[in-house]
Amino acid sequence: MSTITTTDVVVVGAGVAGLSVAWRASTRYGLTVTVVDPSPGRGASHAAAGMLTPVSELQYGEESLLRLSIESARRYADFAAELADAAGLPSGYRACGTIAVALDADDRAVLKDLHAHQTRLGLDSSWLTSRECRRLEPMLAPAITGGLHVADDHQIDNRLLVAALLAACERAGVRFVRESVERILVANDRAYGVCLVDGRELTADQVLLAAGCRSGLIPGLPPEVVPPVRPVKGEILRLRVPPEMLPFLSRNIRGVVKGGSMYLVPRADGELVIGATEHELGHDTRVTAGGVYELLRDAHELVPGITELPLVETLAGLRPGSPDNAPILGRSALAGLVVATGHYRHGILLTPITADTVAQVLAEGGTPELIRPFGPDRFETADRKVMA
Ligand code: GLY
Repeated sequence: MSTITTTDVVVVGAGVAGLSVAWRASTRYGLTVTVVDPSPGRGASHAAAGMLTPVSELQYGEESLLRLSIESARRYADFAAELADAAGLPSGYRACGTIAVALDADDRAVLKDLHAHQTRLGLDSSWLTSRECRRLEPMLAPAITGGLHVADDHQIDNRLLVAALLAACERAGVRFVRESVERILVANDRAYGVCLVDGRELTADQVLLAAGCRSGLIPGLPPEVVPPVRPVKGEILRLRVPPEMLPFLSRNIRGVVKGGSMYLVPRADGELVIGATEHELGHDTRVTAGGVYELLRDAHELVPGITELPLVETLAGLRPGSPDNAPILGRSALAGLVVATGHYRHGILLTPITADTVAQVLAEGGTPELIRPFGPDRFETADRKVMA
């Protein structure tokens, strides 16, 4: 066994959470950071669609999450510009707005309820007739029964975002170790680094656990501080709009289709992302015929012209779900261990706020007010200690 390096922080997991915190911690606070991941940027961050849609994806009972999401969305344009500058690469931000549309009368009632809830909370969205939807997006089917327009819900190309974060981290001197973590090292009630599968040890003052849906699987931690995350499978498709058919769609489309929900996310370069299924099947990342069928069937109901487009990719990713579907952010009960996981459906949206707040936790201690409701301590109960 050999200890290969000591840094201020070792980050376990190079998805958007780990990378963005590493970048911020390094450039804003001057911390030395090592990121460990066998395939940086290739997990859920790669599979995602990149919707930045806190208002159109509003859920009842998630008002404190809404506050965090809106603040992250508000920071996005500046974050993306700063990142692009630091990386020397585009970061893929697109201020395009979102239309949520309903297929039948029941779907329309669902969207009407959502609109009423948005209005009660003072959020900006406007109801549209079917004709008004189609005036904004002519490729929508005449059959849709109405919708709502959220002018401030945008998107980012998640793969450009990941590439920019990797480049910005490299430029900032963040060290990458492309290897799997065998266990987190704990002694005297303190996390002090990680042991890799090849036996090497990386030691650090603090460990940031940001391994997405695998965050609960890495051995070494006392049971009560293991983040309770579970994999939530999402199948997602990528189509390619030929240049002569652009612009095919100009905004994100969220659809309520016979009670289910789905989305189409059009990139400026012609990529069209269609997602996503949602199943809890453990760590299964197989794409099923049924998943592809459902997505194409529902997308075709809303935008019949998609059947002319080449289908260029089918993929399944694993979202990191937490028991209350909100992220787990901040210092854990174990000294030296900080957590940034459990982002569920909102990892890309929450990237700027995760980066800013968790880097601050690493550099200054304490807990920024915005992430207080999302601390690991809400799950670190005596019950879990006993059950484990
Ligand atoms: N954020 C979209 C999804 O998880 O499918």
